[in-house]
Amino acid sequence: MTASEQKVAVVTGAAKGIGLASCERLAAAGFAVVMVDLDAGELQEAAAALTVAGHTVMVSAGDVSSFAGVQAQWAEILARFGRVDALVNNAGIAQPKALLEITEEEFDRTISINLKGYFNWCKAVAQTMIDQQYGRIVNISSVSANTGAAPSAVSKFAYCAAKAGVLGLTRGLAKELAPHVTVNAICPGSIMTALTEKLIMSNRAMIESSIPMGRIGTPLDVAVVVEFLITVEPSFITGEIIDVDGGQWVN
Ligand SMILES: NC(=O)c1ccc[n+]([C@@H]2O[C@H](COP(=O)([O-])OP(=O)(O)OC[C@H]3O[C@@H](n4cnc5c(N)ncnc54)[C@H](O)[C@@H]3O)[C@@H](O)[C@H]2O)c1
Repeated sequence: MTASEQKVAVVTGAAKGIGLASCERLAAAGFAVVMVDLDAGELQEAAAALTVAGHTVMVSAGDVSSFAGVQAQWAEILARFGRVDALVNNAGIAQPKALLEITEEEFDRTISINLKGYFNWCKAVAQTMIDQQYGRIVNISSVSANTGAAPSAVSKFAYCAAKAGVLGLTRGLAKELAPHVTVNAICPGSIMTALTEKLIMSNRAMIESSIPMGRIGTPLDVAVVVEFLITVEPSFITGEIIDVDGGQWVN
């Protein structure tokens, strides 16, 4: 197994939204991109567009919440490329139920995708990044990790809890994986994607008026910050949380 010259980025939740926009930016920046998603059909379609554009792409369908599944996906990725330079933990689900409505299973599922899924992928890639003495991990959290759920938000407390857990995971791993592997997080605000479109469209004027920059965010707004955290050289940034929310939560 020989490591290729091309840098490799693994992106979860890559079939659409912020994950897909991140893949597009990283591919354009010269990375081979491993696109991970639960939805194999959408994943193939999204990957085809990048392949047609001449980029190196590998698709890897699976559920981020399965530890064994992620280990098996990772073994295939390592066998193909022999290296990993960047991980973008992005796959996530909304959880619209409040405390009095949510079931135990729904709470567990929210945490197991939105938090444990991030652990699963960090655990998979960490040894290789440490051995390489190089790695960039970017975790997509949410502004609601810090603010709790706004009345207009798609998701309620369980999602906020998972996303706040992502911030703790980011800070803890930034220290554990230093000095050669950086771990940072991004907290998007209201970004127009499949996850949020219905709700944003039904409250658009109200949401826009709550954002100092006066507009809803796009996946590209987040993807350019993902690219920055992965490609900036030299980098002296780790354990950092960057809000990408148009000033919605100025703290
Ligand atoms: N859109 C927003 O306003 C917003 C705001 C804050 C944070 N976020 C976060 O950004 C990330 C991306 O969100 P998005 O808006 O692009 O969502 P999206 O729904 O457009 O895309 C999420 C992708 O994750 C995949 N996915 C879901 N569960 C999975 C699983 N178990 N295993 C593998 N893949 C799975 C889906 O198939 C989908 O392709 C999420 O973590 C979300 O919580 C989004």
